[in-house]
Amino acid sequence: MKALEGIKILDFTHVQSGPTCTQLLAWFGADVIKVERPGVGDATRKQLVDVPGADSLYFTMLNHNKRSIELDSKNATGKEVLTRLIEECDVLVENFAPGALDRMGFSWERIQQINPRIIMASIKGFGPGKYADCKVYENVAQCAGGSASTTGFLDGPPLVTGAQIGDSGTGLHLCLGIVTALFQREKTGRGQKVSCAMQDSVLNLARVKLRDQQRLQHGPLKEYSQYGEGIPFGDATPRAGNDSGGGQPGRILKCKGWEQDPNAYTYFIIQAAAWEKVCDVIDKPEWKTQAGYAKPPERLDKLNEIFSTIEEWTKTKTKFEVMDICNPLDIPVGPILSMKEIAEDEGLYATGTMVRVDHPERGEYLSVGCPVKLSDSPAEVRRSPLLGEHTAEILSNVLGYRGDELNRVIGSGAVGDVKAEAAE
Ligand code: COA
Repeated sequence: MKALEGIKILDFTHVQSGPTCTQLLAWFGADVIKVERPGVGDATRKQLVDVPGADSLYFTMLNHNKRSIELDSKNATGKEVLTRLIEECDVLVENFAPGALDRMGFSWERIQQINPRIIMASIKGFGPGKYADCKVYENVAQCAGGSASTTGFLDGPPLVTGAQIGDSGTGLHLCLGIVTALFQREKTGRGQKVSCAMQDSVLNLARVKLRDQQRLQHGPLKEYSQYGEGIPFGDATPRAGNDSGGGQPGRILKCKGWEQDPNAYTYFIIQAAAWEKVCDVIDKPEWKTQAGYAKPPERLDKLNEIFSTIEEWTKTKTKFEVMDICNPLDIPVGPILSMKEIAEDEGLYATGTMVRVDHPERGEYLSVGCPVKLSDSPAEVRRSPLLGEHTAEILSNVLGYRGDELNRVIGSGAVGDVKAEAAE
């Protein structure tokens, strides 16, 4: 038995943010029914295509373990089928542009009338306010949520990060909200609306930068490299390069082979508790007792010198050798892993964090499995559905359409090209 077995999700999501949420719910055992426009489907099916004719990796990697029904929600019969789905499901998840669901005739008020127990979960770019009507994509959220202004180097422009904190980050937040609302429904019997704004989710993940914004009022941020470099602070949290976000100074340092390999680097933290071991490893035993180096606050204006000296040592070792030497000494380090190295790491396949999935159109591909491990509800990753692959079985088995009723729905053009025999 899976944790969310018996929970039906009406998955009205598209692109990345919503699909990452419903994919997690599917991995936890929910029956996720993805509603897609007949003949078109989720736009990502045909975005960044690598194998002609096959669903893209963009789509397959975000829609595992789901069923797909083609349904035109603007057609009268399509609205009837959608109403039946709302009656049957526990949760409706959507991330359309603001107002799109209302324009379809399915406002939150209407949805509650149809099924008072349903939980409706929505992602929008912004919460209520002056930007509420904007369409928003990943990088816009990273910028509006405070992440971009605090990412990058001091002398360069703001930077977005490769981790999709706006889309997948918001999907994670929404998933938590849905499970919490399901938990509350156990006691109240009522559904509720769960809303996540991408700006809010990014800001939540950039929380420590708002911490620093307030600390600025009380003096310079001494753990930032610019403090040691004598560069004055402005009135907003600056970009901090690769400085650690916590109180322990850290940097990315070159390792052996860095001249050819763009990822021959390690992250190196000079945690106060490990300082003496760092000094021994880099053959600077005098720094253990020397005034100006022995105590953490004294070191803050010498970080460039200290990290340059450590780098002279890391440049003589591969990033994995640095790990092997420092880990047993409790010196926190971490290799910069490329996506190629991650894709080849059999240890990640052994834990299910990386998976190999077979697909009828594209053959085998790699994906990230469920990053949350439940001991009583292990996730099994199944391939994403083809467009409308389950239309027939959802109409008959989930919604109970049979005989003439089924023929009427199929004949209406609301559900794509379906064979009645398949449904029967
Ligand atoms: N049948 C009929 N019509 C359907 C349908 C279906 N099954 N599914 C979607 N549609 C319609 C919608 O009703 C909408 O019609 P309308 O504009 O007449 O109201 C239309 O398709 C387009 O939907 P929309 O959400 O506006 O898509 P878009 O491609 O223009 O915008 C986003 C994409 C992502 C920018 C937008 O959906 C958005 O801002 N979403 C919220 C934030 C978000 O999640 N962003 C990150 C995405 S990774």
